[in-house]
Parts: sequence; C-alpha cells; structure tokens
Amino acid sequence: MLNNRLVTVLVFCMIAMSVLSCSSALAERPSPSIVPLPVKMIVGKGVFRISSKTRVIADGKSDAEAVKLIDALVPAMGFRLKRAGAAEKTGGAITLTLAAGLAKTLGSEGYTLEVKADRIEIKSAGAAGLFYGVQTLRQLLPAKVFSVKRVEKVDWLVPCVSITDHPRFGWRGLLIDPARHFIPVGDVKRFIDAMAMHKFNRLQMHLTDDQGWRIEIKKYPLLTKIGAWRDETLVGHLRAKPRRYDGKRHGGFYTQKEIRELVSYAAARHVTIVPEIEMPGHFRAVISAYPALGVFPDRQKDLKPWTHWGISSDILAPRPAGVQFCKDVLTEVMALFPSRYIHIGGDEAKKTQWKQSQEIQKMIRQKGLKNEEELQAWFIKQIDVFLAAKGRRLIGWDEILQGGLAPGATVMSWRGQRGGITAARAGHDVVMAPTSHTYFDNYQGPREKEPLAIGGNLPLAKVYQYEPIPKAITAEQARHVLGAQAQLWGEYISTPQHREYMAYPRACAFTEALWSPRDARDYERFTSRLTEHVNRLTAAGIHYRKLDRAAKQSK
Ligand code: ACM
Repeated sequence: MLNNRLVTVLVFCMIAMSVLSCSSALAERPSPSIVPLPVKMIVGKGVFRISSKTRVIADGKSDAEAVKLIDALVPAMGFRLKRAGAAEKTGGAITLTLAAGLAKTLGSEGYTLEVKADRIEIKSAGAAGLFYGVQTLRQLLPAKVFSVKRVEKVDWLVPCVSITDHPRFGWRGLLIDPARHFIPVGDVKRFIDAMAMHKFNRLQMHLTDDQGWRIEIKKYPLLTKIGAWRDETLVGHLRAKPRRYDGKRHGGFYTQKEIRELVSYAAARHVTIVPEIEMPGHFRAVISAYPALGVFPDRQKDLKPWTHWGISSDILAPRPAGVQFCKDVLTEVMALFPSRYIHIGGDEAKKTQWKQSQEIQKMIRQKGLKNEEELQAWFIKQIDVFLAAKGRRLIGWDEILQGGLAPGATVMSWRGQRGGITAARAGHDVVMAPTSHTYFDNYQGPREKEPLAIGGNLPLAKVYQYEPIPKAITAEQARHVLGAQAQLWGEYISTPQHREYMAYPRACAFTEALWSPRDARDYERFTSRLTEHVNRLTAAGIHYRKLDRAAKQSK
C-alpha cells in the first residue's frame, strides 16, 4: 500500500517535472541579441526561412523601403527577392506596410515586426520605422547576412518573434570631424552604413576649423583653394615635446555635388546630416583665405591653416562684412543641407584679439555691450535671426549661453550637462554631448595598450551607463532634451579603421542609451548580447575594438 502510494507520488512528481522542464525550455528559448534592445520582444516557436522564392510585398509608399531590404540581402545571400504588390497573398512573404494609425503609439520611427513560420510583417507609421524594422529583421538572421560577399551554405532562418519597438529619443547622433583629417566621400558613406545599422539618425559633420575648410562655397572660392590645405601635420601628441611634423601637405574638401550625394545617401538611410560651420572662433583657415575677415588683417596676411591641434586665437572680426560673410556661407550651406538644425559651433572662441583691438573695443561700446562675451552673443543673435527667417534653427555648443542665449537657439551641451540644464530650464531645446560620456576620441582602455588618443578615459561600461536626462530638471523641462550625440573628434583619427575602432563597440552601448527604455538597461545582459552582435560587425567588415573581459566586468 505504502509502496503503491510512493509510486503514485513518484509518477506524479516525474510528470510535474517534465511539464515544468517543457515550459522552462519554452521560457529559455534564446532571445535574439538585438542591439539596441527593442522595447518589447516575445519569442515564439518556429522559424521563417528566407529563400530565393520569398517575395517582398509593399505598396507604393513602402516600396522604397522594400527595395532597400532586398538590396541589403543580396550581397550575402546572392539572390534578389522578388517584389510583389500589396494585393498579393502574404503567406510566404515579407510584407512592409505603412500604417498611419501606429503614429500615436509608436511615432514615425517606431515599428512592429511579426515573424511567423509562414510570413513576416513589418508595420510602421513612417518610412523610417519600416527601415528600422528591417534593421531589426537583419539582426534576427544569421550574423553572416551582414557580409558584403556571398556566403555559401547558410540556412537563412529567422526565429519567430513579435516585436513592438520605438526610440526613446529623437536625436541619436554621432559627430565626425573631416576638418582635422579629411574624410573621403566613400569613407563617410561607410560610416553612415554602420550608423544606420545601429538606428542612429543624426550625423554632425564638423566641416570647418583652424586646420581646414572642407566644403565648397561658390561665393568664396579661396576657402577651399587656400583654406582646405595645410602644409603638414603634427605627429604624436600635442603635448609631446619637441613637436614633430610629417612634412606632408594635407587637405581636401567636398564639392557641392559631393555634399548633395552624401546628403541623399544619408537620407536614404534615415540619417540627417547636420552641417557644422564654426564661427566666430576656430576661424584660422578662413582668415588664411580671406585675411580681411580677421581682427588684424595686416598682421594676418601670411596666415596659413594650422598644422597642429589646440585652439587658435584667430577669430572673426564681427564687422558688417564679417557677419555678411557668415550669412553668405550659410545661405549656400542651407541650399545643400535640408537639416532643420544648422550648427554654427560657437565654442572655444578665444577673445584675446577682440580684447587687443581698439576697433573691436569701440564696437562693443557703440553697441552698448558690456564685454567680449556679449559681443559674441550679439553676433550669434544675428545668425539666429538670419537662420530663423529661412525656417531653420540655430544649434551651437554651450558657450552660446554666455552673454545671453539667442531666442531660437538649441544648445549642444558638451562641458558637462550644466549648459543643457540651464538651457532646458530656460525653455530651450538641448542635445546632450558631455565630454564625460560622449567623447569617443578619448581612450577606451589602458593607454599603454591603445592607439594614441587625445586623453581621458571612456570605457564601454561608462558609455552604457549614460543617462541623457539630468536629475536636476523636471519632467516638463526634460521634454526639451532632444537626445544626445557622441563625438569622434579627428585630431588623432586619420583612417576609417581607426575611426571605427574608436566608435565601436562604444556606439553600440550609446545607441541603447538613446533608443531602449531606461528601465530595461542592464550592462551584463548588454555585454552578453554584444558578444553575438560583434559577429555582425565582423561580417560587415567594421574594424571594432575587440571586447575584453575587463570592459565586460568593469562597471
Ligand atoms: C568642443 O569639444 N570644443 C565642442
């Protein structure tokens, strides 16, 4: 009797355990390693197989995104999926649908992605959302799908999932710096491809600085004839003594045709290029071309674009002709870049020459201004009004707060979050870009093991922990924080491989800080997904910094 009972209990336990292990097997079905982490993902049972017979269904409006999906799969798969109209049966197909009704909940960049054994459906209220749905779909496939060369013997399986996703912030930016080291068009495109894969949507191009002017301006041809070329470049760190130079002429610039090509290449990947034209400081290359724009034209006749780093004292003289020059340049810039935001720099404008010049001092007095800071603020206001009249918005580094912020200005907060907090409290929009967490030109590991960098220390874990909304502002003020941006300043970065090394995997961490829900962020889980994700970077030929245990563990 007792034995019988024991047997019954034992059998019951075994059944219970097997049921439990079944359901835990279900629960443990591996979650695909998507970066950035989607808002909601439920992993189902089964897979969808993509083969040369798979069709892509799109209607007129989603057709462009369907073509991009097909194009993206061709290199690795070696076949082109056929397109079909919206009237086709969705079984066996990938369907892209624009669904205006999703705008309320997901915005124009959010999407839903349903993968079932017999179909895949991506829906969004906007073309950008469809594009991001496609980026996620690519990450659901084997990593080799990112290869630019045909891959043999891979079963292109997509696990069944149900994803609902949308970004936390609207400005998810990276900055590149062709002013310090010119970046050829092909390399900029390559950079944009990697950005798009990670759902970044703003590329700030730092087009002008003391060391070079990089954009053709028809009205001022000497900007590129003279200002785009420096005689040689510093070798090693700026602080190393004695300074050594490479003796090689360096330079280059984008023609207006090339700029148009880049803008449209980026737009096709839902990346807006934000041009940065520095004023009134970082102006040496301009004055080298047009000495009359300097404070001391007679002394500045033989000025040349700078051959080393740092901040030159050569600053614009804000005479009427100087202000007009800036407006003329911006007129051509606006014709090339549809970006609503036009970045005018405004940072690190040394006031030494303004202080030394009797002419500028008189200008300050005549305008009823207190000092040089107020003169800079007066100048920025002229440019703000000018851009606003053309339907654009001025954005500048946080120094534009000094001497009074121009009414329409948006602030890019780089010297910590302070500038951003002040601006948001005053009701201005803000993009966070603090040196502490977003300067990807800083070291990311022990200096003795890393290529030469400007300094600092910004490991992967610190980037991942970045929170763009400062505690010091209210929920209402936080609405002014458009997002954040990471900077790849180019003094010590001169090749695409090095740029990628500095950008990745830190940009993988950064995109998650900008896209994924704040509460879902978990560094351990991120690094575990990252170990899968780097296989995609490898397949795509992105020269990322290899993950190290220290980076995984240090928090
Ligand atoms: C900056 O790093 N000067 C904006």
